[in-house]
Amino acid sequence: MDSREVMGVEDSHLAPVYKKFQVVLSKGSGSVVWDQNGREYIDCMAGYGVALVGHSNPHVRKAINQQLEKITTCHGSFYNEARSEALLALDRICPPNLRNYFLCNSGAETIEAALKLARRATGRKKLIAMTGSYHGKTMGALSTTWSRRYRDPFGPLLPQVEFVPFGNVGILREKVDETTAGVLLEPIQGESGIHSASEEFMLEARKSCDKVGSLLILDEIQTGLGRTGDMWAHQAYGVTPDILCSAKGLAGGLPAGAMITSQKVASSFRTGDHTTTVGGSPVVCAALKATLEFIEKENLVGRAKEMGGIFFDGLENLKAKHSAIREVRGKGLLIGLETRFDIRDILLSCMRRGLLLLYSGRNVLRFLPPLVIEPTQIKKALAILDKAFGEAEGNMGIG
Ligand SMILES: Cc1ncc(COP(=O)(O)O)c(C=O)c1O
Repeated sequence: MDSREVMGVEDSHLAPVYKKFQVVLSKGSGSVVWDQNGREYIDCMAGYGVALVGHSNPHVRKAINQQLEKITTCHGSFYNEARSEALLALDRICPPNLRNYFLCNSGAETIEAALKLARRATGRKKLIAMTGSYHGKTMGALSTTWSRRYRDPFGPLLPQVEFVPFGNVGILREKVDETTAGVLLEPIQGESGIHSASEEFMLEARKSCDKVGSLLILDEIQTGLGRTGDMWAHQAYGVTPDILCSAKGLAGGLPAGAMITSQKVASSFRTGDHTTTVGGSPVVCAALKATLEFIEKENLVGRAKEMGGIFFDGLENLKAKHSAIREVRGKGLLIGLETRFDIRDILLSCMRRGLLLLYSGRNVLRFLPPLVIEPTQIKKALAILDKAFGEAEGNMGIG
């Protein structure tokens, strides 16, 4: 099929829920992807952060191929070696007190599991989430997602979900009480513009939960696995959650999620409480183990810090040059660049020039490149951004 045929089939057959870019991606390697016509792009969106260890990572590919020769599916009611090995790999990177896993297929699924477990473990109903949050679009996750654009058309959602202004210590302290099952938050909010929780706010979340016996649930679906320069973003705060949610790049690009908790909290679940037919399949588990091995072997956590520093400094230089750029923020390779205008044209202009980027709100560009991105690729990306901002400012008569 040529590009036009591919786009035609998808446009007429897929549920119309994605805003499509007119590009057919057909190949990827590391931090680079190619379209059907052989055009090359530096990928700083990485499928919303999924290509964490790079596209078509050879180590992950080999593990998948080897597992495909053995067995591809094995329901959770049977045992499987690839799954056991994946669990031991998770053990190596997870906080010492969190060594129990519910394996599933996506980020939202980990949130669903976490919300149910919080209710089961505490026998309470109330859930606290944050303004600006994004936890996914299944009904439970959606109920804790802030944007009314996503929530309003689908009510009634879960009852007894209350939102606390992200960062407001006083309101958080007030709202978390003996009826609260869990407090759910992202250490760094991605969807609403790359905003980090303050240390004070994270410490208060832990303290308030401890005081009344609620569970602290951290959504590290975007911030985890080295993205911010720590294996988990929460480590920088010295706060450990009761439940940790991980997904996106967990299995090198295959669909995977893990709800991670302690043996004690997990033991509240009863047989049949929460299951998924294909979660923890051997092929995904083999990919998961290989992904975690690669992150460790290549020190991608340190690399995210180092490359993030190079990217951040380069963006700060662009800010000094272009008055349209208001602020650069974030941590490691999770970076937001706030502009004084809607960034749609910048995004499209970068795409035309061979750079893929993400929105994070109307006037924030989000950078979520693979952690294997090279300094030369960062340099190229910065040069493209420089041109795109120069052109946009010229068109608007500013700068
Ligand atoms: C912080 C966060 N939580 C939850 C989700 C939902 O994950 P999924 O799209 O895999 O369901 C996302 C996805 O972007 C996310 O960034």
